[in-house]
Amino acid sequence: MPERKALVAGNWKMNGRRTDGVALARAIAERAKAPHACDLLVCPPATLLRPVGEALAGSGVALGGQDCHAAASGAFTGCISAEMLHDAGCSHVIVGHSERRQTCGETDADVQAKTLAAWRAGLVAIICVGETRSEREAGIAIAVVSNQLAGSVPDGAAADNLVIAYEPVWAIGTGLTPTIADITEMHAAIHSRIPAGTRILYGGSVNPKNAAEILALPEVDGALVGGASLKAEDFWAIAEAAG
Ligand code: PGA
Repeated sequence: MPERKALVAGNWKMNGRRTDGVALARAIAERAKAPHACDLLVCPPATLLRPVGEALAGSGVALGGQDCHAAASGAFTGCISAEMLHDAGCSHVIVGHSERRQTCGETDADVQAKTLAAWRAGLVAIICVGETRSEREAGIAIAVVSNQLAGSVPDGAAADNLVIAYEPVWAIGTGLTPTIADITEMHAAIHSRIPAGTRILYGGSVNPKNAAEILALPEVDGALVGGASLKAEDFWAIAEAAG
């Protein structure tokens, strides 16, 4: 299997205004001057892409969007296209986050269309998948995630245009995480269904305390970090754990 360099990505969600967002980005850029073994990515809200991108310039920390529309442009009030994200300096975009699947009703077909849009614009798509608590308890977590992958990942996926984020819905923002055995089993199942060399991030309540154990797993190629990405020292501690 080709070597997979770890990626630690911060998903700021709907947090941050210019002053604190730029301060956070500067603090991350400053820390990123130290040697580190992983790739780093920050996904701020769309309003902060420009100033955060400027604060990260030259640091090696990549910039990403949190969502995109499937169309390149048009009458879609409030939406942002992958081309616009690229134009704003992004190299990546998160698609199919469970908060969008749940609150915006996004389907696997929507996620697939957004992934194709990301590729059209030259972005790496980070496709999020993950089961709910009741699905885990019913013993169908791997079947659910396999279905999401089958419906969301387009033909043409490759290690350099796709990242998968396994994020159990019940672990996001709750302080709960699956057992190490469950993470290992799920990541191995996902790896068997996607092109060799494609990175799979674990996401859901990753913090400086649990990061080392999770990121040490050979099946885990990094983390998608929500709450803990809003503090530079916590985000950096997770990045160091990935090294
Ligand atoms: P969390 O969020 O780290 O706050 O659980 C992760 C995510 O939703 O990507």
